[in-house]
Amino acid sequence: CMPLMLRGEPLGALYLGDNRRDFVTEQQRQFLESFAYFASTAIENAQLYQAISDKKQELETILSGIGDGVLVVDGDLRVVLMNPVATRIFNLPAPPPDGAPLPERLRQEPIYELLNEIRESPDGSRMQEIELAPRGSDQLRTYQALATPLVVGNALQGIATVLRDITTQKELERMKSNFLSVVSHELRTPLHAIKGFVNIILMGKTGPVTEIQRDFLETVQEQTNNLQRLIDDLLEFSRLESGRVTLRLQPVDIPVVIEAVVEKLILSAQSAGVSLVNHTPEDIPTIMADPWRLEQVVTNLVDNAIKFTPAGGSVTVAAEDVGDYIQVSVSDTGIGIPHEQQERIFDRFYQVDSGANRQYKGTGLGLTICRHIVEHHRGRIWVESEPGQGATFYFTVYKHLEEEDIGSLDFTTLPQKESAGK
Ligand SMILES: Nc1ncnc2c1ncn2[C@@H]1O[C@H](COP(=O)(O)OP(=O)(O)O)[C@@H](O)[C@H]1O
Ligand SMILES: [Mg+2]
Repeated sequence: CMPLMLRGEPLGALYLGDNRRDFVTEQQRQFLESFAYFASTAIENAQLYQAISDKKQELETILSGIGDGVLVVDGDLRVVLMNPVATRIFNLPAPPPDGAPLPERLRQEPIYELLNEIRESPDGSRMQEIELAPRGSDQLRTYQALATPLVVGNALQGIATVLRDITTQKELERMKSNFLSVVSHELRTPLHAIKGFVNIILMGKTGPVTEIQRDFLETVQEQTNNLQRLIDDLLEFSRLESGRVTLRLQPVDIPVVIEAVVEKLILSAQSAGVSLVNHTPEDIPTIMADPWRLEQVVTNLVDNAIKFTPAGGSVTVAAEDVGDYIQVSVSDTGIGIPHEQQERIFDRFYQVDSGANRQYKGTGLGLTICRHIVEHHRGRIWVESEPGQGATFYFTVYKHLEEEDIGSLDFTTLPQKESAGK
């Protein structure tokens, strides 16, 4: 009997029987030893082969079960694997056999360019949207193709592409922007008319206005202004959420931005009995940023600070150069924010007091808009507050922002300048 050993571990045993007496000579023993060695190796190979083919089976089962299309090609763009979903997306009768060249059908699709692009510079994944018509339908479906190079050492071993059907998502986005243009036109236009005519009446151009009429009309005016702000907020929020907004970078002096906001809001602070103080030093370096959007952030923060500070309190704006960033702070002596809500207030539509008969007006979108804008400037926004003792909001903007950091400009979706000052 001979043990079958592999790297010091027993794998099995080899039994031999013979009726000769001097059965095991030294030579035979050596022969048997090497036989046992080869047998162990052969068994191990068989086991490894089985394990690999089990794994391959497992992988294929997973890939055929998932809803996304998967296409794997080797460095010469020969098919290594195509799952049933990918086969259907590319309108092929059956998946091509392993090692077959990429089917002619695929060479005419944009995915071919995507694969070639990766082959030429295999140093990162690439994403592309491609449109394909499934079998028996003349309707185009949109797929998002994410191609990832499989690099071993320095050599491109292959490319794995995942295709996800985003047709519904595209359709929803289209409906959302349609809805938005409806909102902007169908709601803004009558609002402008209301504001215009109320103004004309108030100016006395349609005859004398009694005291009580003036009072009511002024309320109409105030409420339409609120409505206008609400619509502007909703539009701005949707633009930012859909990623259709890009910054317009230009040299910006933060102190100038802050001063403009303070001037704009000083009257509403006064009528709320709150003193508004600007503590921004003059020597803040000029940075590249979108001044209009930064003004929007400061406006929202100061506006909140005034709103949530009872009469007699104060609101202080300041800025500081902190290395690669400029940090702006807006502190107030108001009602403060409970600790457990200090993260959540930056969520869309979130308000600490959101009851039906709540005390403070607003949509709960202001801080969400701020966060989007600040993050577009590669900065951070946060709050420090003790309930009952006021709150300080901080945000940072990166000093060395460049055009490449923020992607291409999309002028079609930028807000109209006329609403900029509001
Ligand atoms: N300075 C502040 N002091 C206290 N609470 C604040 C302050 N700023 C914001 N909040 C809280 O965060 C919520 C969200 O703010 P925001 O997104 O601007 O929405 P809105 O002002 O429309 O309510 C507010 O409803 C309020 O509960
Ligand atoms: Mg607000």
